[in-house]
Amino acid sequence: MEWRTVALSVFMISLCFLAIPIRVPSSDTTDDDLRLFETYILRYNKSYRHDPIEYDKRFKHFQISLRGIEKMNKLRTSPESAYYGPTKYSDLSEDEFLKLALRRDLSTRAERHRIDRFMRQKYSSAEGNLIRYERAVRIPPRLDWRTKGVVTPVKSQGNCGACWAYSTVECIESMIAIKNHTLTSYSVQEMIDCADNNNFGCQGGDICSLLSWLVDNKVSVSTESLYPVTGKTDTCVLERSAKSTVRVTDFTCDSFINTEDQLLDVLVNHGPVAVAVNALTWQNYLGGIIQFHCDGSFKMLNHAVQIVGYDNTGKIPYYIVRNSWGTLFGNDGYIYIAIGNNLCGIANQVSSLNVIW
Ligand SMILES: *[C@@H]1O[C@H](CO)[C@@H](O)[C@H](O)[C@H]1NC(C)=O
Ligand SMILES: *[C@@H]1O[C@H](CO)[C@@H](O)[C@H](O)[C@H]1NC(C)=O
Repeated sequence: MEWRTVALSVFMISLCFLAIPIRVPSSDTTDDDLRLFETYILRYNKSYRHDPIEYDKRFKHFQISLRGIEKMNKLRTSPESAYYGPTKYSDLSEDEFLKLALRRDLSTRAERHRIDRFMRQKYSSAEGNLIRYERAVRIPPRLDWRTKGVVTPVKSQGNCGACWAYSTVECIESMIAIKNHTLTSYSVQEMIDCADNNNFGCQGGDICSLLSWLVDNKVSVSTESLYPVTGKTDTCVLERSAKSTVRVTDFTCDSFINTEDQLLDVLVNHGPVAVAVNALTWQNYLGGIIQFHCDGSFKMLNHAVQIVGYDNTGKIPYYIVRNSWGTLFGNDGYIYIAIGNNLCGIANQVSSLNVIW
């Protein structure tokens, strides 16, 4: 193809793509859907282009996504509201999406922390000492830890269900940067390969179990460069972290349902936190602030992310949430969630941590 043709078709694709969230359904829905699907396949370079059976199956899921997208976009109350449209996950059934990107059993794993020694109390080793609740700094109208150089670039977990490791390691990185003014990527793979204590690598785990494993075993956390990510559960090579002296000394595992002001307090007075969420409706999320249809109940928890700030200055106050599905997802890899109603279950299980080295 001549470059002009390529450039023009890329442009047309972008136009179609932008138009999707605000499209009005016509009577000829299937034809419209098919045209959108063709665009979608090109946009995401889907490999089933030449496989009729797979094509049909994916098209059916895509149509279900489109109807969901239309429903969600009708609920928008302001230009800042979340908008929905096709993402790389839109040709999956809800069940496939759960299997591929989320962990259905996360709430079952997390359940133990509601009854054991971790929940609603600080968990601290002898050397650790969480002092943040005594530090009463006024909550500013907005806070974005990214602007303070303590947040590493957005990562991509691929087909490995280790959101629990990503969100936790991201907090380790941020806490080192806050203390030491040096920003380094630390090893998610070490957690995937080595953390037991009810964690199962790419098959799932949870933040509080990982943190108690790190503290109880005084585990040295390796840098990403010494223990790089492989995208699958591999053999644990703890010797790789021998050079590192970085350790988590204590952590919290709190529920802030109906007390999200305390979550803001932790963000301001301590640093970024790792949280469990329900990300089912993120399947078709393109950007903006999520305000509706994101069930916050504990049993719906299926994903883990890092909160790196909030903004209380606009019409819809929101959390700045860092995801691990790459930079092409959402707002450059970030998701905005309205503050105050435990939306997407964001306040169910909130963890902060301290590090030493
Ligand atoms: C599209 O996918 C095919 C394999 O399915 C791959 O070989 C090719 O490089 C991809 N192209 C782009 C632009 O990503
Ligand atoms: C802390 O900062 C010092 C000086 O910049 C640096 O040499 C050291 O590696 C840093 N420690 C960590 C754990 O990042």
